[in-house]
Amino acid sequence: MKTPQKLKNQSAIVTGADSGIGKAVAIALAEAGAKVLINYAHNQDAADEVVNTIKDAGGKAFAYQCDVSKENEVKAMFAAAIKKYGTVDILVNNAGLQKDAKFVDMTLEQWNTVININLTGQFLCSREAAKEFIKRGVVEKRSVAAGKIICMSSVHEIIPWAGHVNYAASKGGISMFMKSIAQELAPHRIRVAGIAPGAIQTPINKPAWETPEAMDKLLELIPYNRIGQPADVGKLAAWLASDDSDYITGTTIFVDGGMSLYPGFADNG
Ligand code: BGC
Repeated sequence: MKTPQKLKNQSAIVTGADSGIGKAVAIALAEAGAKVLINYAHNQDAADEVVNTIKDAGGKAFAYQCDVSKENEVKAMFAAAIKKYGTVDILVNNAGLQKDAKFVDMTLEQWNTVININLTGQFLCSREAAKEFIKRGVVEKRSVAAGKIICMSSVHEIIPWAGHVNYAASKGGISMFMKSIAQELAPHRIRVAGIAPGAIQTPINKPAWETPEAMDKLLELIPYNRIGQPADVGKLAAWLASDDSDYITGTTIFVDGGMSLYPGFADNG
């Protein structure tokens, strides 16, 4: 069955859309009818592949390289999307990475890289999106909102994570960043929401699922007893970007098979 075209005539920017969750989000938005800028940092071939997948299915997309932590590059990316599609209706702040280290061994570079990409990148992209949304306002035939911003967070916005302090701090920061801009932008009819994925089977956490032993250990943390798939997150993003979720702003939805339910307490405590 064909996906209903709930994002018809809307255009979207998805950061870090060349792999993993970002790729699934871009494909889901395109299936719902959006034209999508596929942002990537390094891997042009992978980004082109996502574009081709979308085009083969009858959708519209183009690849655009930009480091989301660089102000000028982000501004240029928004200008490129606006030039190509006229405006931007949806931003999915997805680009993110891990630079894991024990806390006492963590270098300033590892700290800064993660905060710059994961948190500052969301600031820079959201600011450009909000300016465009406010300037344009609501265009009723596309959406009842003036724009939608989706911030990719993680269960680690609430679950502390030893050995990943930079990453957990960036995700905790995204939670408060998302809520604060949601409060500030709501009067402009701009909606902002967070998505907190748990363990989704992507390259970022390969060591956690690539062997049967690792997978068994991981499943102890997931009451629903399966690893998440990128499409689980893609479907949620498409819904959050659509008018079906029009009364939702300033909240984070967890898509984690129950990982955030303190599974260790199921038979303890
Ligand atoms: C991390 C993954 C991890 C998952 C659950 C995600 O935010 O990027 O590496 O598997 O959280 O712990």
